Amino acid sequence: MKTETKAVSRITRNTAVPLSENRHLLRWVEKMAQLTKPASIHWVDGSQREYQDLCSLMVASGTFIKLNDKLWPGCYYARSDANDVARVEDRTYICSLSKDSAGPTNNWENPFDMRKKLKGLFSGAMQGRVMYVLPFSMGPIGSPMSQIGVQLTDSPYVVVNMRIMARIGRPVFQEIDKDQKRVVPCMHTVGAPLAPRQKDVPWPCNREKYIVHFPETREIWSYGSGYGGNALLGKKCFALRIASNIARDEGWMAEHMLILGIEDPHGEKTYVAAAFPSACGKTNFAMMVPPAGFEGWKVWTVGDDIAWIKPDASGRLRAINPEAGFFGVAPGTSKKTNPNAMATLSSNTIFTNVALTPEGGVWWEGMTDSPPAECIDWQGRKWTPEIAQETGAKAAHPNARFTAPASQCPTIDSAWEDPNGVPISAIIFGGRRATTMPLVYQAFNWSAGVYIGATMGSEMTAAATGAVGKVRRDPMAMLPFCGYHMGDYFRHWIKMQRTLAVTPRIFHVNWFRKDSDGNFQWPGFGQNMRVLKWIVDRVRGRAQGKETPIGWTPHYEDINWSGMDFSPERFAQLQTVNREAWRGEVMQHEELFIELHDHLPPEMVYERELLICRL
Ligand code: OXD
Ligand code: MN
Repeated sequence: MKTETKAVSRITRNTAVPLSENRHLLRWVEKMAQLTKPASIHWVDGSQREYQDLCSLMVASGTFIKLNDKLWPGCYYARSDANDVARVEDRTYICSLSKDSAGPTNNWENPFDMRKKLKGLFSGAMQGRVMYVLPFSMGPIGSPMSQIGVQLTDSPYVVVNMRIMARIGRPVFQEIDKDQKRVVPCMHTVGAPLAPRQKDVPWPCNREKYIVHFPETREIWSYGSGYGGNALLGKKCFALRIASNIARDEGWMAEHMLILGIEDPHGEKTYVAAAFPSACGKTNFAMMVPPAGFEGWKVWTVGDDIAWIKPDASGRLRAINPEAGFFGVAPGTSKKTNPNAMATLSSNTIFTNVALTPEGGVWWEGMTDSPPAECIDWQGRKWTPEIAQETGAKAAHPNARFTAPASQCPTIDSAWEDPNGVPISAIIFGGRRATTMPLVYQAFNWSAGVYIGATMGSEMTAAATGAVGKVRRDPMAMLPFCGYHMGDYFRHWIKMQRTLAVTPRIFHVNWFRKDSDGNFQWPGFGQNMRVLKWIVDRVRGRAQGKETPIGWTPHYEDINWSGMDFSPERFAQLQTVNREAWRGEVMQHEELFIELHDHLPPEMVYERELLICRL
C-alpha cells in the first residue's frame, strides 16, 4: 500500500485541469484569467509534492535559497524587495457602498471608482506568469465555524506560505463542490507582468500598492505586494477585515487575538483570548513557559494572532484559531524568550528578511547572545557586528518573519483543531505602554471592559510602515483590521453580551511599563504567568481584588511570588494608578471618540463619565 501511494504521488499531474466542478468558481477563474492574462493556470492541490515542486521552482528562479538541511531541515529563505517589507496601512481600503460604513479609521474610496481602477491595474498584470487557483479554509475543514476563500495569485511564494498558514487544496475544493458553498473571492497579483523573454527578479512587486476590501460583496483585491500581511489574503484581509463584517452580520466576533489554555497541576484547564497590537508579543504570550515556582502548570497554544469567537448553544463563547500556522516576527525570538517558537520554526519553515549565515542557516537580532562573526543581511549585503556598530545596520529587518506550521509547536493544544472551538473564560487587552498603565487590572463589568478595549493605546512597532514608538489608539488591537465603522464595532461588542449566558471577564495588561530611568519595571515573558494565574483565579472566583478608579487590581499577596524576588514596593510602583496621568489618558480617549461620535454607542460615553467621576 505504501509503495503504491508513493508511486501515485510521483505521477506529475496536469495542473491546468480544474480541480473543482463549481460553476461559479470555474466562470470566475475564466473571467479573471481573461482580465489578467497569465501564461498558464495552475489548480493548487495542496500536496506535499506540489509544495516541494514550487519551492524548487523558486530556488531555481532565485526567490528562495534552500537552507542547510542538516541545520534547518525543510527550510527556505527569501529576501523581499526593500520596499515590500510590511503591511501598508495607508494603501489599505475598505470600499463599502457608503463612506460612513467604513468609518473615519479606514481609508475609503467609492467602490465603483475603485473597481475601475483595479480593473485597469489587474488588466494584463499576470502576463508571463502562472495564475495559481488556491482554495483555502480558514478554520478546520468542515467546522461550522470555518469559512472558505479562493485566492487567485501569480505568486508561488504566496502559495507555499498559504499552505503553512491555512488548510488548502483538494479537500477545500471538495467542500466547495459539496455544498456549492459561498466562497470569498480573493484576487492577488504582485503587479509585475513579464514581457516575452524578460528576466524575472527574485521578489517581483510594484511600487504602487492597493489592498482593497469590498465588505458588502465580500471580496478582496490586492495589488503590488508579496509581503505576508498584504498578500496572504486568508490572514488579515479575510480572517479580520472581511470576517469582521460577516461576524457582525451573523452575531459572532473576528478578533486580532491569540488563544491559549492554562492547565493547573490538577489538570483544570482555562482558556483565554488576548488582543495585543502587532509585534507586541502575542506569539511569545501564546507559547509561554511557566517560570520556576509554577511546577506542574502548563500553557497550551491554540493560536497566536486571530480568534473567531462565537456563542455556543448554551450561551458560552467558544473560539477557533482560523489559521494553521504562525507568521511570526523573528527578531527578538530566541531559546530564552520563546523556546517553543524556536522549536516550531526549527524545520519546514519559510524565513523572510532575516540574515543568512555562511553555514546556510539563519540569524536575527536577539536570536543568540552573541552575533555570528559574519552574515549576509536581509538586503543581501555583507554584515558583521563591526559594520553594525559603525552604521547601525540590522542583519534582519525588524519585521522579518518566519512562517511555521502550528502543528510543530511543542505546546500546541490538544483541542486546537476542535471544530467547535474552545470555551473562552477571559479576554485580555494589552498594549506597549511606557507609562500610566499598570501591569494588570480587571474591568468592573463587560461594558467597562469594552471601554478598556476601545480606548487601548500602544506604541507603534515595525509591523506596519509608520512612526515607530509613537502611542496611537488601537481599539481592541483592531485599528488596521476592523472592516467597518469602529463605532459600530464597539456597538457590536456591547450587543454580544446580550447573547451570552456566561460572560467572560475582561482584563488589561501592560508588560512594558518603564521606571524614571527608562528601564522596564517587569521582566515579562515567563513571569507573565503570575499575572495569568491571578486572571484564572479571578475568573474562577478564587482571588481577591482591590478596587481602584480604573478597575480591580491584585493585592501583592494575591499574586504567586514563589520562585521570584519582587518586593511589595516594586509591585506597588508597577501597579500605581496615577490619577493625574489617568486624567490625561482620558482626554486622549476623547480624541478618538470625537472622531467616532456619530456611531459611538452611549455605553462608551457613560463609561467615560463614570471613569472621570472615579478619578
Ligand atoms: C501580523 C500583524 O502580521 O499583526 O500578525 O501585522
Ligand atoms: Mn497580527
